[in-house]
Amino acid sequence: MEEEDKGYFHEASFIDKEGQLRTSKVPVVQELARQLQGLNHLPDKFKRVHPDHQPVTPSVALPIPTINMAKLRLVAEPQPKVRAQELAKLASAAKEWGMFLIMDHGVPSNVLHGVKDVVKGFFGLPFEEKKASVGSYASVENMGYGRNFVKSEDQPLDWIDRLTMKAAPEGASEGLHVWPQKPTNFSDIIYNDRQAIELYVREARKVLDDLLEVLAESLSLERHVFIQQFDTNESEINVRVNYYPPCPRPDQTLGLTPHTDASALTILMEFDTSGGLQVLKDQKWLPVKWPRDTLLVNVGDMLEIMSNGRLQSPWHRVVTQMDVERFSVALFYNPASLAEIVPVRNTTMKNESYKNVVVGDYLQHFYKISPTTEKVAIKFAKA
Ligand code: OGA
Ligand code: NI
Repeated sequence: MEEEDKGYFHEASFIDKEGQLRTSKVPVVQELARQLQGLNHLPDKFKRVHPDHQPVTPSVALPIPTINMAKLRLVAEPQPKVRAQELAKLASAAKEWGMFLIMDHGVPSNVLHGVKDVVKGFFGLPFEEKKASVGSYASVENMGYGRNFVKSEDQPLDWIDRLTMKAAPEGASEGLHVWPQKPTNFSDIIYNDRQAIELYVREARKVLDDLLEVLAESLSLERHVFIQQFDTNESEINVRVNYYPPCPRPDQTLGLTPHTDASALTILMEFDTSGGLQVLKDQKWLPVKWPRDTLLVNVGDMLEIMSNGRLQSPWHRVVTQMDVERFSVALFYNPASLAEIVPVRNTTMKNESYKNVVVGDYLQHFYKISPTTEKVAIKFAKA
């Protein structure tokens, strides 16, 4: 009997190719990892034949650009030169990588630690408690404790468990059902202490808003062209906690299948272990590591559309590691679901290459066709 038959499953619902609603049982990787400890094999469901799966060696840290947010926040004098240099650095990072690290971002480190604590607290609960602690969204796909990107019984599975929640707009009623009730500081407001994740979301939103402005500026566009598409009360932030348990065979599987983010901008923190994220650049998968307290930002499909292709969402994936576990927390920043995003006009290129799309329509399309083997969802927005 294969180990995964012993017991713990997520249920993943999906519409299959024939349009039928199906539910697939996906092993809880955290439990599986525990059962497989000390062994050196994986259940077949997790194995993939990956021609480009590079051996996971302790890789040289990638010289991915680091942007100093404090320098970008220096308004006007006395150091216009410092700011201008940082803007130029941002422009080239955003254009060449679609991904960069940020330091001096202003999110207090106790806020980052608060996130780490509740996330570890949640994953430290027994499976049944985790499951019982998180509600489910009746009408929203890809949310809650479990899995996403499951589309068929025979696709290779990722070595990951995830927890996905809506954090904004504030008070989104459905969101309340899915936030874990345990550990209590995950979601309760006790003695005026805001929940850890909410505090982080609030701080991170400031960073994301600043970035939307400076990114526009760095591309010599009017400062508000991106941010004006994010209604303060209606724009959305989804939180995705990724948990990658230790994996007995990192050479045979992936933590997260290659993808772009559908969001406009994504901001990521990681903890316990660094490393695992890889980005495809010039046809090569490059490892991305980031120092403690720096955050990683990447361009998503919707910013590619808004920028009319000046920025491009990077194709990225996560590889697993052998004796260590790793967590990452991604915040996906999107305009309101009913908003229509409008690409900035191209003055130099003859043809406009992207068209207006309604955010909710794009997301629906993205999740309907994902996972894909190449970057194709974005074609939905090509003129
Ligand atoms: C994601 C993602 C990367 C990571 O959640 O979309 O790309 O390092 N995560 O976990
Ligand atoms: Ni991603």
